Amino acid sequence: MKKTRRKKKKMKGIVLSGGTATRLFPLTATTSKQLLPVYNKQMIFYPLNTLIKAGIKDILMIVAPEHSGQYLNLLGSIFKKYSINISFEVQSVPRGLADAFIIGENFIGDGSVTMILGDNIFEDDFSVAINSFKTGAHIFAKRVSDPERFAVVKFDLNNQATRIVEKPQQWISDFAIPGIYIYDKRVVVAAKKARPSARGEIEITSLHNYYLKLRELKVSSFHGEWLDAGTFDSLLEAGNIVKNKGLYKKFHPIVEKAIKEFNEQLKILAKKKLN
Ligand code: G1P
Repeated sequence: MKKTRRKKKKMKGIVLSGGTATRLFPLTATTSKQLLPVYNKQMIFYPLNTLIKAGIKDILMIVAPEHSGQYLNLLGSIFKKYSINISFEVQSVPRGLADAFIIGENFIGDGSVTMILGDNIFEDDFSVAINSFKTGAHIFAKRVSDPERFAVVKFDLNNQATRIVEKPQQWISDFAIPGIYIYDKRVVVAAKKARPSARGEIEITSLHNYYLKLRELKVSSFHGEWLDAGTFDSLLEAGNIVKNKGLYKKFHPIVEKAIKEFNEQLKILAKKKLN
């Protein structure tokens, strides 16, 4: 009998870059938080780099309507010649992180997806986790000193996740869940089932709990830098760490080249305008 080998569906990527970032006013009165500089590049290049490094070629950017033009100007064409396809969806109301999977339903289709938050910067390479992913969900954990700011995961003695709580008011663990998540296509169903939390958002935590209940949630810890640049201090700190640790030099060659070419084009245009 002839064996039919099913081709593995390609992993897709989503970068969630919506929101109004009121904590960063007045900086974010004129642009999106994720377009603010982290040392010598816009913040958004860091999460994009994490996806591109893992070989993801199909990326959906979810942006707020007031910034969609800026994102299109910056990212609309720069990766095209490298066969990296960036598409855009507008999130008109920030309904919560889980909303990304409802917005991205058609984009995800029948495959798996890695979502990264546009303000999360990682030193680690997630390529192995992303490329070996099969089904269920794979999320990450990092020990922090201020767990109440994040979703938090509690482990049992065998290092199995037992509880996940979004911004716990009472301490349950020091392990925060950063903004990079790998899910199979059932994430769309889970997002549609999620009910809004007290802050009126459909939380990403509901999705983790959906897979935890099914016993299909994998949680791995990692040790490299994880920066989220949502306050003045963390934005400044992110820039300093990126500079001092040389992270700004560790971009995938495609990202490096694309940015360089974009800069060249800008220079040519600027010269033309001067003449
Ligand atoms: C969001 C998520 C939270 C996660 C954090 C990572 O929080 O809701 O689960 O730990 O991102 O940066 P927010 O930045 O919306 O407060």
